[in-house]
Amino acid sequence: MGQQSDARASVTCAVVAQKGGVGKTTTLLGIAGAAWERGLKVLVVDLDPQANATAALDPASIHYTTNDVLADARPGIAADAIVASGWGLGVELVPSERALEHRAVPEGRDSTLRLRIALEGVVDQYDLVLVDCPPSLGELTRNALAAVRLALVVTEPSFFALPGAAAALEAIEVVRGSNNLVLRAAGVVVNRSRPKTTEHAFRLTELQAAYPGLVLPFTIPERTAVQQAQGACVPVQAWHSAGAADAADVYDVLLDVILARGAETVADLGLSSTTTFSTGTDT
Ligand SMILES: Nc1ncnc2c1ncn2[C@@H]1O[C@H](COP(=O)(O)OP(=O)(O)OP(=O)(O)O)[C@@H](O)[C@H]1O
Ligand SMILES: [Mg+2]
Repeated sequence: MGQQSDARASVTCAVVAQKGGVGKTTTLLGIAGAAWERGLKVLVVDLDPQANATAALDPASIHYTTNDVLADARPGIAADAIVASGWGLGVELVPSERALEHRAVPEGRDSTLRLRIALEGVVDQYDLVLVDCPPSLGELTRNALAAVRLALVVTEPSFFALPGAAAALEAIEVVRGSNNLVLRAAGVVVNRSRPKTTEHAFRLTELQAAYPGLVLPFTIPERTAVQQAQGACVPVQAWHSAGAADAADVYDVLLDVILARGAETVADLGLSSTTTFSTGTDT
């Protein structure tokens, strides 16, 4: 269902964290940039009313937003909201707006399935679909988690990292148990690392001890170029500096992890690689 002639083995991944400002949007943009550099077809779904991913992807025009998409929620309706990003060919966007806050509270039974329904037949037009989430594990993030097969947890190496990662991983399990059996954690990635500081090294070791195998064996460095590229609305991969290259190398490895975990998920479940989502049947 919903399959078209150029259906792809899509990998779908939400980027989540309970805490604000840990780098969810930045990490999503880094992964999207790595995919852009490889010529993959990418869709970014901005499910944060702050619309930071939308701003960084700088679309020339916006017709509908995720607020409209969730309000309507007819099968495949997200296609109507897709616009080209300012990054050029290959990266497209379902933009957000502040009014999306209206959708942050549950509205009747199955309201967490709205995004999944709206993306039916849309997902398989892309190699990679990334969903940016707000700093909360509430209704909007649950919509994201119900619509994807992978969730990447982002954290910073601080005192709050362990409880934050625990809460996000728990939310993933809850959604998996309630309406999305194919959902898996892609991993916990530590952002803004400064490995030379003892506090960061300590927090990293603490996380790895708590979640062996889930905490990714590399960290995303803190680099000013990441912020400069965001400010210029270009992928960090297109920003020419040593710091940008450091970050781009890590985002490239992170993309490999996500593509590999996405492929595993499909194979593990014995599903066809082009199986599309359908409400309540393939989960
Ligand atoms: N690796 C990094 N190097 C340098 N700056 C970074 C890095 N990661 C994130 N930042 C900066 O930190 C700030 C917060 O990042 P970002 O907006 O991605 O976090 P977030 O988790 O999406 O926040 P929110 O919860 O508000 O959505 C931004 O100014 C961003 O540019
Ligand atoms: Mg954000």
